[in-house]
Amino acid sequence: MCGIVGYIGNKKASDILVSGLKRLEYRGYDSSGIVTINPENNPTLLRSTGKIIELEKLVDQNPTPDQIGIGHTRWATHGAPAERNAHPHRAGDIFLVHNGIIENYKELKSQLSDYEFTSDTDTEVLAALINSFYDPDTTLQSAVTQALNLVHGTYGIAVLSIREPDQIIVARLGSPLLIGVGKDKDNPENIVASDASALLGHTKNAIYLNNGELAIITKTEVKLLDLAAQELTPKVEKITAELAEIQKQGYEHFLLKEIMEQSTTLRSTISGRVDPEKGTMKLGGLNLSDQELRGIKHIVIVGCGTAYYAGMLAAYYIEQVLDDVTTEVVIASEYRYRAFNLPEASVALIVSQSGETADTLACLREIKARGVKTLGIINVVGSTIAREVDGGTYVHAGPEISVASTKAFTSQVATMIMFAGTVAKAKDINPQIIAKFARELSLLPDEIAKTLQTHQPEIQALARHYSKYDHALYLGRDTAYPVALEGALKLKEISYIHAEGYAAGELKHGPFALVDDRFFELFLIIDGWLIDKSLSALQEVKARGGHTVVFTNSTKEIESDHLVRITTQLDLLTPILLNVLQQLFAYYMAVEKGGDVDQPRNLAKSVTVE
Ligand code: M6R
Repeated sequence: MCGIVGYIGNKKASDILVSGLKRLEYRGYDSSGIVTINPENNPTLLRSTGKIIELEKLVDQNPTPDQIGIGHTRWATHGAPAERNAHPHRAGDIFLVHNGIIENYKELKSQLSDYEFTSDTDTEVLAALINSFYDPDTTLQSAVTQALNLVHGTYGIAVLSIREPDQIIVARLGSPLLIGVGKDKDNPENIVASDASALLGHTKNAIYLNNGELAIITKTEVKLLDLAAQELTPKVEKITAELAEIQKQGYEHFLLKEIMEQSTTLRSTISGRVDPEKGTMKLGGLNLSDQELRGIKHIVIVGCGTAYYAGMLAAYYIEQVLDDVTTEVVIASEYRYRAFNLPEASVALIVSQSGETADTLACLREIKARGVKTLGIINVVGSTIAREVDGGTYVHAGPEISVASTKAFTSQVATMIMFAGTVAKAKDINPQIIAKFARELSLLPDEIAKTLQTHQPEIQALARHYSKYDHALYLGRDTAYPVALEGALKLKEISYIHAEGYAAGELKHGPFALVDDRFFELFLIIDGWLIDKSLSALQEVKARGGHTVVFTNSTKEIESDHLVRITTQLDLLTPILLNVLQQLFAYYMAVEKGGDVDQPRNLAKSVTVE
């Protein structure tokens, strides 16, 4: 969603702001803007709708050597995507960029009746509020603090003033913000960003703001305060991501790169955690004693979108490894408002790639409030959820830039299996099953690479054929069912083809009525005890004139319009192989349809508002 960049140093600020905003493009946005200032009180405010390239044109037409500035990518919440609603917003001498939502903006606006508003945004209300406290004898820090003490909602903000042109003020409540600390003492600078990717290439040292903190940033110094103006000690942490990881590295789209690199990223996920020789798995960082692990009786898995489907698939596996534990998987946006009770000895797995998803974060807080231990299954290091959980682990999939989540799914499922293995070990149960999962997890990276490589041309050709359809049904049973749900999500979000995932056993209960020439039906069929049931469902669809494609590891004779047959030594983890194939299928379908593959319309990578 929205992104923030700020710069103060000796370099041309507009260059750093624009390149930083480009790094944040993946988060999703519909307008952008920057403002730079200089000691002569001469601000340059440039804003534009559409892609950053439009902003870049304005920057080229209005060059300025200014060395301090703030920038923003906006994903519209209050007010349409229009230039007047784009950030930065000006009020008197101050400029403000803001991520998050000011919930009491209407009430605050009514108290600012003398102010002439020019936008529909909640952000301009905050700018006007800060300005209302910014008397000639008041500091910017004091004005910002007074305003923030009146605000309800969430914010990550960066504020500039032409009266105090040697500082940027940032503050955070709910929306992430970090300060990249310049690495060159002879050439001091500090950079602000809402996401570490905007800092890569500049510095690897960062101060992550906590909720309720404010920082006054000059070229040489970062002063950290709370909202009662008490000084705090900043903690400088290392950013682990590498610049190369957020570049396309020769691929046409980030999505293709992220699909194809899954064997490598999965290796990082399992590295040092799975021992196929000993047949064991162990996750660190859980912050649970052996006694607590042994005591676990119920696991609730929470997530949204792909993270939720990863949880659904993992639940099938967890039930196999921990046969004395009950498991439930819940959608965060629903669960947060339910009057839920969790049984004693529950733990919650909070699954999120970004670690910032608002609904997932709200669930985490609700669950914690009930005294239940929360464990994060998170990709982005230092993210809000990662900071708020009681324990947990990073999935180490590396930066995921494309809005469609792919490699994170694979790593999340693997991590949850390793969690189950860790708990089972503590309970001293099911060593054979743990050993089988350990063996399969260690084989999985190579199996993914082989599957993708072998079937890429075939999948591309299939996409050419099926991209002319308007609708798709994805069907699977057992572990292929959550994979079907995930496949349908992937297809709809990037190709805009309507797609639904269904349990194949549910066809007769409704979806059969849909089978017609505008639909194709994609069956995910896994060899095993339920295969004949899946094959019957396929035949029933064919008998009704359906257009079918099958992804399978079965060697049985299968009658279908198209058939993609993989060969694998895996058994339990075959669904993950079918999933990477359908990721590739969705990718090529999207390419055929000509949409914006990495930044599909109306979507954001990190859904930080409800
Ligand atoms: O960052 P998170 O894993 O919490 O994100 C959850 C969903 O927003 C995300 O998986 C979304 O559904 C993706 N666009 C799916 O590809």
